[in-house]
Amino acid sequence: MTSTTLSTPSTGKYEQPTGLFINNEFVKGVDGKTIEVINPSTEELICSVHEATEKDVDIAVSAARKAFEGEWRHVTPENRGRLLVKLGELFEKNADKLAAVESLDNGKALSMAKVDVNMAASTLRYYGGWADKVEGKVVHTNNDVFAYVKKEPIGVCGQIIPWNFPLLMWAWKIGPAVATGNTIVMKTAEQTPLSALVASTLIKEAGFPPGVINNITGLGRIAGAAIASHMDIDKVAFTGSTLIGRQILKAAAGSNLKKVTLELGGKSPNIIFADADIDDAISWANFGIFFNHGQCCCAGSRIYVQESIYDKFLARFKERATQNVVGNPFDANTFQGPQVSQLQFDRIMEYIEHGKQSGATLETGGKRKGDKGYFIEPTIFSNVPDDARIGNEEIFGPVVTISKFKDADEAVRIGNDSNYGLAAAVHTKDLNTAIRVSNDLRAGTVWVNNYNQLHHALPFGGYKESGIGRELGEEALANYTQTKTVNIRLAGSIF
Ligand code: NAI
Ligand code: MG
Repeated sequence: MTSTTLSTPSTGKYEQPTGLFINNEFVKGVDGKTIEVINPSTEELICSVHEATEKDVDIAVSAARKAFEGEWRHVTPENRGRLLVKLGELFEKNADKLAAVESLDNGKALSMAKVDVNMAASTLRYYGGWADKVEGKVVHTNNDVFAYVKKEPIGVCGQIIPWNFPLLMWAWKIGPAVATGNTIVMKTAEQTPLSALVASTLIKEAGFPPGVINNITGLGRIAGAAIASHMDIDKVAFTGSTLIGRQILKAAAGSNLKKVTLELGGKSPNIIFADADIDDAISWANFGIFFNHGQCCCAGSRIYVQESIYDKFLARFKERATQNVVGNPFDANTFQGPQVSQLQFDRIMEYIEHGKQSGATLETGGKRKGDKGYFIEPTIFSNVPDDARIGNEEIFGPVVTISKFKDADEAVRIGNDSNYGLAAAVHTKDLNTAIRVSNDLRAGTVWVNNYNQLHHALPFGGYKESGIGRELGEEALANYTQTKTVNIRLAGSIF
């Protein structure tokens, strides 16, 4: 069996594929292993899906290689674009179902899952538009030479994605890779395989040739590791923890030196100046950390408030945080659902315990919510000692630290005091402060008077240990192309 009938509270019954999607077909794993998929809201089993091991990775890579060297090479850039646009349209057509499956499996509020699906559709369409606009150039070196530089696809790309935005990360990775003519072996996260399996049915429906986009579910340490060290994968793109990002780089170095791009963690500062619109700043601070239950690589997990408004801000921010509705993702009012898994729940609760023991002040939250499902109260710590783990490490949950600063210089210094550099934000009405502080923050994205606002046309990625390379925008095309120089010596040349 490579599918099963499931039901979501918002859309009712549907057919859920459970196989590995290779060569446009759902197949069982060679070893016959399966992975249990858990509903994080109820802790109950949703279904089991087939698990890919090294052998299945080999099969998927062969399919991707065959497609890359065969039919796919002859699909024009224009038609690659058409396929991506079609896939984006199918995402929109199936938006209710995709969003419901995402909420069921990941636990995110249905309203947020719908935004993810729309953004995924936009990303696919956007890269569809790029497909026939990847151009090279002619370079004049001297009159006896005709030289040109062209962009070519890299080849078979391994793509390893996390569980916090399953469909969105899928689209961010597939869009630029397909637009530039590569083929793909995608490995979704073991915690959240379901939405990408539904999306895989749309790959076939959109008309992609077999083997261009293969989608497998497997464990990181088995299927993920097999991708990272595979001798016939030309490039690997990874989103996840810094720990595993380092392992991927090592595996690439120890195998075939495949190209690597990494989108890793963060501990992003959210800086609020005294002249900011306080209501707006509180809303963005709240959204900055508690959106997606704090499971965002760019979460604004360190809030710094200028000292003259600190007390007022903290009091109102606490009040705001307690108003966030935490509960069933399918309820219309829910803002925050459960954490994705027991493991993540335990990790976060451990950080909260560390926070309490570090001497920091627990301002609000800190407890489990309810007795079933991985729900955690929005949690705020103040007076955090400099070396406390909660102030320095990525928690990836609804936990934030808040402290005060005197002036812009201090805000920049403490804002930059991290090994990470994914994102940062500044809230102020002063244009000079906004621009000067943005210039000085060592982060791949700086938001001014907002937070967590991403767009498919704007590059996203990390400074420092937050990653290598940029996703989205025109820049992402560079991750999936390599440059060929053709140097032609003309007849009659004197050299
Ligand atoms: P992870 O980094 O282990 O998992 C992310 C992806 O990598 C998954 O698809 C997983 O199967 C795969 N993977 C795991 N081990 C691998 C290996 N040895 N070789 C190749 N692929 C491998 O992250 P995990 O354990 O789910 O979460 C742990 C922490 O990582 C979180 O608490 C958070 O701090 C961070 N994280 C950051 C994300 C981001 O968006 N930057 C997303 C997910 C997690
Ligand atoms: Mg799940």
